[in-house]
Order: sequence, then structure tokens, then C-alpha cells
Amino acid sequence: MAQAAGGALASACAHAGALGLLGGGYGELSWLQTQHALALHLLSSEATALKRLGCGFITWKMDVDASTLDWLLDQPHTPAALMLSFGDPRPYAARIAKRGVPLICQIQRLEQLPQCLEAGAAVIVAQGAEAGGHGMQGLQGRATFSLVPELADALAGQSPSTLLLAAGGIADGRGLAAALMLGADGVLMGTRLWASAESLASSGAVAAALQAHGDDTVRSSVFDVLRRKNWPPEFDFRALRNRLHREWELRMDELRQAPEAARADYEAGVAVQDFDRAHVTVGEAVGLLRDAPSAAVLIARITQQAEALIG
Ligand SMILES: Cc1cc2nc3c(=O)[nH]c(=O)nc-3n(C[C@H](O)[C@H](O)[C@H](O)COP(=O)(O)O)c2cc1C
Repeated sequence: MAQAAGGALASACAHAGALGLLGGGYGELSWLQTQHALALHLLSSEATALKRLGCGFITWKMDVDASTLDWLLDQPHTPAALMLSFGDPRPYAARIAKRGVPLICQIQRLEQLPQCLEAGAAVIVAQGAEAGGHGMQGLQGRATFSLVPELADALAGQSPSTLLLAAGGIADGRGLAAALMLGADGVLMGTRLWASAESLASSGAVAAALQAHGDDTVRSSVFDVLRRKNWPPEFDFRALRNRLHREWELRMDELRQAPEAARADYEAGVAVQDFDRAHVTVGEAVGLLRDAPSAAVLIARITQQAEALIG
């Protein structure tokens, strides 16, 4: 999770027994250097947990500049895994494999599977459209509940040793148990861990999220245009559907042609943490959030709940 999963959250997940992924996102080198150093520091006396620290990157942004990925691969610490999402992972597979790092590929459609298997992915993340943040736009997006078993069947036939994680809408033990029943080997959670004590999300954004229901989120490109993020057209972004979003969501052409006034409104909202204007990046699972405790508490609670349900 770009800008949310820094060293504190990634190391807390690793410490709690999960895989902790730094949100390398768009490849901002100084941010990653700081957060990577923090994670190494927080895990300095925990050799086993250190082996559970990895990082994620936005693939299409690596096509523009992969120097952050190269920097990470040059560090003495070998990442537990590297996740690539939103683009073709094949150009980066050889350098990741050369370092002996397992590759995780997050995909949104069955048709993206072959290029990930060609890239040698050790793990596929099946991301449904319920997910917070970026994902496949409405015309092509798939729901987690059918994407996961379809990919599980495809992997059973084509690459049985490749692990499958479900992502999108999973925020409690019911979701974890359901994902396992659907054929996943585990889950990747964003929204749930975004609202945790170690997340870099602002307290105001988390407070707004804790008041929201799943009905209150929406997928669109509104916030990408407002934030000057040039995402490829096949992807859009799920966040809370706030006042500024409603104002522009049916006028996308107009927004793209003349974004200045809306951007000024958005940036003023960000400056004063006014979440009627600033974005709050959460998925439909926001309706399942009641609190924002530490990642360790969340992971233990979700695991225990899933174990009880499965038992
Ligand atoms: C705040 C936030 C930031 C995210 N940033 C990224 C990112 O930088 N790269 C990425 O691959 N996915 C990103 N995601 C999507 C997650 O990888 C994951 O697919 C999603 O959170 C799963 O759905 P959930 O939010 O319902 O748990 C982000 C999600 C959130 C909530």
C-alpha cells in the first residue's frame, strides 16, 4: 500500500507472523530508503521476522523508471518477496529471480495469468474489484468471489506449485475462511491493515473510514486525475465517495479537459485534512472496520476467527 505501508506497518506484519510488504508504489527512492531502514531497524533483533519483510511496486511505473526496484535488489537484506501489480511483470522477472527473491504478481483477470506464469511468479494475488485503491476498471473488473476459484482451478491445471492469495473485501476471519474455501492459500489485506496503529494513514482519514459503510466507496478515475497520476486507462481507483467525487464523477471528460479548479479544491482539502474533498483510500471492506488496533492484534484476531469457523 503506497503511502500507508511504511516500515512500521510492514515490520509489524512480519513480526506478527505474516508477510509484511513495504508500499514501494510509484518508486519514490528516498521514501523507500527511509521506510526500508526503519523496518530493518525495528526487526534488527528478530532474524526470523526479518525474513518475512518484502516490498511491492506498481509495474507500469517501473516501465518508466525501475531504479527503486534495482536499489532494493542491491541491498544486503534479501526481500522475502517482491510484488508487482498493474502491468506486465515479465521485464523484471530475470533480475528478481537472479537475486533469488520470490515474485508475487497481483492480477484482476484470468487472462493476465499466462504472463505471470511466464515471469515465474511464485504467488498470484487474485484481486477483486471490491478492493481498496487501484484495480481493474468497471468494464473489466471481476469480483473476488468468482475470480479466486476460477484462478485456483487454472493454477491446479497449469502450475500447481504456484500459491494463490485472495484480495479484495477481506477484513475479518469470515473473509479469510471463505477465501480458503474458495481455493486460496491465503489472503492479502489492504483496507483492514490501512486502519491499524502502524499505518501511515492520517488519523482523520481513519476516523472518516470508521464512520463509513461499504456502500460509501466507489471506483473511478476522479482522484487519479485530481492527483495528476497518469494511470493506464484499464485501471481505476476505489476510495470513499466524498463530496468532491460526487461533484465530478459524471463529468469526467470535463474534469480531464480542465482539471485546474477541481485540483485546487482537492489540494486545499488535503492541506486541511477535509475528507469531503481529500481522498480516503479504502475498499468495500471499510464497512467491516470498527477499530484501528495494532497489526498484531488484527492478524491474531482474524486468524483465530477463521480457525474457529473452519474448525
Ligand atoms: C490505501 C491502499 C493503498 C494501496 N496501494 C497499493 C499499491 O501501491 N500497490 C498495489 O499493488 N496495491 C495497492 N493497493 C491494493 C492492495 O494491494 C490490495 O489489492 C487491496 O487492498 C485488497 O483489497 P482490500 O482493500 O479490500 O483489502 C492499495 C490498497 C489500499 C487500501
